[in-house]
Amino acid sequence: MDLFNKPFSRLNTSCYKWDYLREEAGKTLIPFTTADSDYPTAPEIIAALKERVEHGAFGYSYLDQEYYEILGRWTAERYGYEIKPEWVLATTGVVSSLMFSVLALTDENAKILIYTPVYNLFYDVVKRSGRRLVESKLLLEDGKYRINFRETEEILKDGVDMIIFCSPHNPVGRVWTREETETLLAMADKYGTLFVSDEIHCDLLLGGSRFTSAGKYFREHENIILVFAPSKTFNLAGLHLANMVVPNALHRKRLRDFIGGFYIGPDLLAVVACKAAYGKCAYWVDLQNEHLTEQYAHLVSFFRERIPEAQIAPLEGTYLAWVDFRFLGMSSEELNAGLADYGVRFNRGDLYGSDYDGFLRINLACSRDQLARGLWALANFVNDKG
Ligand SMILES: Cc1ncc(COP(=O)(O)O)c(C=O)c1O
Repeated sequence: MDLFNKPFSRLNTSCYKWDYLREEAGKTLIPFTTADSDYPTAPEIIAALKERVEHGAFGYSYLDQEYYEILGRWTAERYGYEIKPEWVLATTGVVSSLMFSVLALTDENAKILIYTPVYNLFYDVVKRSGRRLVESKLLLEDGKYRINFRETEEILKDGVDMIIFCSPHNPVGRVWTREETETLLAMADKYGTLFVSDEIHCDLLLGGSRFTSAGKYFREHENIILVFAPSKTFNLAGLHLANMVVPNALHRKRLRDFIGGFYIGPDLLAVVACKAAYGKCAYWVDLQNEHLTEQYAHLVSFFRERIPEAQIAPLEGTYLAWVDFRFLGMSSEELNAGLADYGVRFNRGDLYGSDYDGFLRINLACSRDQLARGLWALANFVNDKG
């Protein structure tokens, strides 16, 4: 049974990626944009949701013991770290969790370090909270993005209150190694910097990449706030749920006091889906990783043959390929405007950092057929330009 290549349409489902784009563009374009998937979630999750919906009562709910047990088994078995139930704060999303961390744990003048290019809402969280943004550009060495540790040390020495770290990294596709993660954590510790680790993409591992969670270092480092979620992995972003894991009692109390004041939490169906996902669908994640690995291999061989000038960042994790099209001499906006005539849309590189105009981010979480259509559109566009 091929779970990821069956014909599947998301049109007319209030889908942001497809329907909103159709409204905006005035015609249907195939989108390789927003980070969700163009195939359905795992059958066990759909079954659990159906059963719960059939029950018919959707009153107030709470997170029972089973929820925490399932979370704990998932992180221990897949990533080798333990979480205690009392460390977990379930929220409505990862971005809201980042915002909660900034607002609850830093003061108004705080400086926050991010590694760029990065998921655009990292900039937003810092700016909208009124904090000061500090950027360290990832270095591109032999085609691979790396953390500039020398610069990081200088920046931390200068006084930074919090690092928001994207692990694995969207959009450059790095799964940070154990050494990289340990080095950064040690530096954060040395300078007393809070370390918020956004691990939303941690299950999406290509080509056998191994993920090192910041959670493995809870015992050594007191400053870690870890956030993970089933939303990217299982295509559940519209249900709104994330888990913050905060072992430090003082930070946890400040977060609880802050978030408690809003009286919000994940909704009932999101919790049902999360339990089914982590409780029953490890096999599905492994199959999806195989599919994504094949999608990426297809993209690489297609580009090698048809658009060899484009530079593709090696994709170790996430389903988001990061491609440099600057050889065309066009901005990302011009690329997208031109590509609309070929029926496709990608995410503009300049969304993730002003130095990345001329890059595109390509979402591979779709069928092979859909990806092939996107790649041919790109090849025809490039060919007609040349
Ligand atoms: C790194 C990262 N964090 C957070 C999010 C969004 O998380 P949520 O929808 O739970 O706010 C995304 C979505 O693409 C992401 O890539």
